[in-house]
Amino acid sequence: MADFKIWMNGKLVPQAEAVLPVNTAAVFYATNVFEGLRAYWNAADEELYCFRLHEHFIRFRESMKLMRFTVPYSDVDLYEAVRELLRGNDIREDVHMHCVAYVTGAGLDATSPTGLYINPRRRPRVREGAGLKACVSSWLRTSDNAIPIRLKCGANYQNGRLATLQAKADGYDAPILLNQRGEVAEGTGATFFMVRRGRLVTPPITSDILESITRTTIIEDIGPELLGMDVDVREIDRTELYVADEAFFCGSGYEITPITSIDRFPLGDGNVGAITQRVTRAYMDIVRGVDKRYSEWRTPTYRSLAVK
Ligand SMILES: Cc1ncc(COP(=O)(O)O)c(C=O)c1O
Repeated sequence: MADFKIWMNGKLVPQAEAVLPVNTAAVFYATNVFEGLRAYWNAADEELYCFRLHEHFIRFRESMKLMRFTVPYSDVDLYEAVRELLRGNDIREDVHMHCVAYVTGAGLDATSPTGLYINPRRRPRVREGAGLKACVSSWLRTSDNAIPIRLKCGANYQNGRLATLQAKADGYDAPILLNQRGEVAEGTGATFFMVRRGRLVTPPITSDILESITRTTIIEDIGPELLGMDVDVREIDRTELYVADEAFFCGSGYEITPITSIDRFPLGDGNVGAITQRVTRAYMDIVRGVDKRYSEWRTPTYRSLAVK
């Protein structure tokens, strides 16, 4: 299967031509900010829907502000860039995309000029059917006053890499990171939810987590509107993990990924929980547009856009 072309600074280019010089801060220090997005093919509608682009672009601009980046693109340009990329590759299947702003200068203080690329790739679901065996990592989430995880910059992901490699070396599938205060933060590229005594619980945005769009979708809509369950947003202690009935990671990339044990303590009966399954179904139906509600969250690729 041929590689998709990449949208880079206004043009669609083959992957081999989407390259950066080694002396740029983007390559050497990973001085970039990015968004991870998904688009879902809906065969009945013959349409490819990008999920919550508006919220991704808001967060993208917040990351750029923190990094003192500027890009010469408005939000309308960004919508059009994503659509041009998907249409230009004639994508009619589910895809994941990285939308990346990077500096072209050298040095730790490089800020501009800033380039932008959007890279589509096939990315299967993290785990179909079975849940993950997670562990509590001995690596802590980086703190807001050190290198804030709210800021979605490439360099931040070294924290998750250390934790993931350790978890795998120790025989687990994925780590859960605690923050510097010892409370639960999140997974490497996903936020964390647990179910305890019939309630959905997730840490607050002051727990050193990314302000996840999927998390907001569950807190504000899937929980209360579709499942009839309010979500408790509060700190979670480590030992609560071990006595949770269910748990899952969520994110644009992870979607809803069940966790069935933590530090080898089985959660509930050790199988994917009923509430996790309901959240998964509700989420997958919304993103693909099988559930026709929340249409403002789905940007079509092939149809013309209503005024934004
Ligand atoms: C560190 C981190 N936390 C959480 C998430 C989930 O965020 P979202 O739901 O906006 O994709 C991601 C994915 O982007 C992430 O990289």
